Amino acid sequence: MLAVYKTTFEDYLKEKVGVREPKNLYQPIEYILSLGGKKLRPVLALLSADAFGIDYKKALDVALAIEVFHNFTLIHDDIMDDAPLRRGKITVHEKWDVNTGILSGDAMLILAYQYLESYEPTVFKKLTQLFSKTGIEVCEGQQLDIDFETRDNVSIDEYMQMITLKTSVLVASTLKMGAIIAEVSEGEAQKMYDFGLNLGIAFQLQDDYLDAFGDPKTFGKQVGGDIIENKKTYLFLTALEKCNSSEKKRLLELFSLKLDENQQKIEEVKTIFNSSTASEGTRFLIKKYTQQAFEILETILISDNKKQLLRDFGENLMNRNV
Ligand code: IPE
Ligand code: IPE
Ligand code: MG
Ligand code: MG
Ligand code: MG
Repeated sequence: MLAVYKTTFEDYLKEKVGVREPKNLYQPIEYILSLGGKKLRPVLALLSADAFGIDYKKALDVALAIEVFHNFTLIHDDIMDDAPLRRGKITVHEKWDVNTGILSGDAMLILAYQYLESYEPTVFKKLTQLFSKTGIEVCEGQQLDIDFETRDNVSIDEYMQMITLKTSVLVASTLKMGAIIAEVSEGEAQKMYDFGLNLGIAFQLQDDYLDAFGDPKTFGKQVGGDIIENKKTYLFLTALEKCNSSEKKRLLELFSLKLDENQQKIEEVKTIFNSSTASEGTRFLIKKYTQQAFEILETILISDNKKQLLRDFGENLMNRNV
């Protein structure tokens, strides 16, 4: 069934997105959206609507809005992170230029809102209220992520707050939007949100883990990109806490420099991530948040069959390598 949601969404996306004039505005949009991607959020939107007992196709515009918004954040994120690769292909700002990435991204944010116009006024209002709240939170998270690059005293709590904002709230809102269009009680909708929040945290921890330890042949992004950018990930913060004093000195030294693509820095840092048990700690925390998500899932009033699909989805997320 997860595959059905995905292909149904992909067909819908193809139907809705095409290149118009001016080409330099729309081609990058079509480009990023055609690069694939896991389509996790659209699948969750459709699955949530289905779980709450309505025709899942009614959630297609929510799924589209969220996926276009997500891809907008990716274009801008790749500019901010100076990333060369996205989904195995050259990033928009490198294929075109930074200005193109900015404006095509802006247009995508607006298009995302437009897709929500197909819902009737009461539902539309609830959706846009949540969407706007979430969008602002994503910006806050992205700013913190950038601020942390040049700080050497980031705490694990601050990191958790940052990933909650930049990543989890969108996963949570996606699921809640399925509940909103199904017009279920606020209580059930909120439980779905909380399930997504925990799943989203596990998801970003895994993203950070793969950024260091993913296989360059399949990962689709520059492996070691977070190390190059001095990102204060859970891997880094735990390594700093757990390693010996000479490694700590070295880690801080390496993360005070801004070096382009330095393989030696990447290797040295990864060795400390492993020897300090930060890698293990990260994998443990991914499991913990996934487990917490599953515990919330148990309390939601949906069929066992749909709960199982959401559990399968969570398990797949934990075991992914892309
Ligand atoms: C990447 O999201 C950005 C993060 C929030 C980690 P995804 O891993 O869902 O990216 P795609 O859409 O599958 O490429
Ligand atoms: C991205 O976090 C979160 C958003 C795009 C809002 P990352 O910077 O870790 O995402 P990737 O790794 O580039 O996909
Ligand atoms: Mg990035
Ligand atoms: Mg980023
Ligand atoms: Mg990442």
